[in-house]
Amino acid sequence: MIYFDHNATTPIDDRVLDTMLPFLKTFYGNASSLYRPGRIVRSAIDTAREQVAALVGVQAAQIVFTSGGTEANHLALATLDPKSRFAISAIEHPSITEHALHLKSQGHDLAIIDVDADGLITQEAIDKVIHYRPKLVTIMLANNETGAVQKLSQYAMQLRENGITVHTDAVQALGKIPVAFYELGVHLMSLSSHKIYGPKGCGALVFEKSVEIKPVLLGGGQEQGLRAGTENAAAIVGFGKAAELAQAELAQRSEHLLALRKLLEEGLSTIPGLTIFARHADRLPNTVQFGLHEIDGEMLVMKLDQKGFAVSSGSACASGGKEPSFVLTAMGIDPDFAKSAIRVSLGKDNTEAEVIDFINLLKLLVAQR
Ligand SMILES: Cc1ncc(COP(=O)(O)O)c(C=O)c1O
Repeated sequence: MIYFDHNATTPIDDRVLDTMLPFLKTFYGNASSLYRPGRIVRSAIDTAREQVAALVGVQAAQIVFTSGGTEANHLALATLDPKSRFAISAIEHPSITEHALHLKSQGHDLAIIDVDADGLITQEAIDKVIHYRPKLVTIMLANNETGAVQKLSQYAMQLRENGITVHTDAVQALGKIPVAFYELGVHLMSLSSHKIYGPKGCGALVFEKSVEIKPVLLGGGQEQGLRAGTENAAAIVGFGKAAELAQAELAQRSEHLLALRKLLEEGLSTIPGLTIFARHADRLPNTVQFGLHEIDGEMLVMKLDQKGFAVSSGSACASGGKEPSFVLTAMGIDPDFAKSAIRVSLGKDNTEAEVIDFINLLKLLVAQR
């Protein structure tokens, strides 16, 4: 199977797995215990915190480990006081949009920030949201479907100057482009381990110390009292190792991915009736989402699967449903055309030969329709 769905999840790196295994077997102590086996685990978690902090340029004390990007997003929105006013972009991941709708039903006041035809937030939309005077704004750094990267640092500065707390979901950007917390100028940032060749079920919220984090899970006081629950030591250690590798290999990985993406796009441009979404936006080096006239995206995903290629028909969470991608419809794409969407998200171990095979197969399948 040729795996082209790295925005859904990534395979675990062997070096990450090797780092984790001792914490599943030998070092089973509870990090809160005072005796030696507990202290070994505590020290490994501290190292992981430093590795994740280093990847985004913050101090270790600014990291709260969570069960993943979803929980980090929830923790970020939990900083809101009851019945506050907040805004999210129209293309956020469901872990933001669904939770935002829930908060709205609980009496919060919610505004949606529109995007343009390339999936980008405009200055006009930022001016409008500033006028709305929200307490918090959430803008994802890179979109999971189209790969479009927002001009976040520019907008975060303006929002911050207006006293607005800025949160970004950087889950898809991490490990693919530089993600520097202070350069982005945000107050809160969500990360996930399994998108950077780490284990699933682990993530982090990065926070500026001026922001009061209100824990969602109360209990044993772990994670500086911000996230209770016995630490998932093996996963945290794995996330740390994955972060260390992502930092060391970022330039090499993104150069490789960009070369593959270029090759893929050259091939795609020869297929009649094919449109690359968010084409004019700055995009993640690994992501290409496209639509094909009169093709059912899910059918095509199934045919590609039969021939040994794993791609997505949209975001993993949205696929399986017959609804068009809300990200694409927010960009003004016709809902029927949006249903033809295919997302290819490349990974560090993919090769040119795999991309060429994919293009040849796609051409064949499109010609057969
Ligand atoms: C942009 C974005 N945010 C958040 C998440 C959720 O992360 P996790 O699977 O770690 O909960 C995902 C996962 O697909 C994502 O793509």
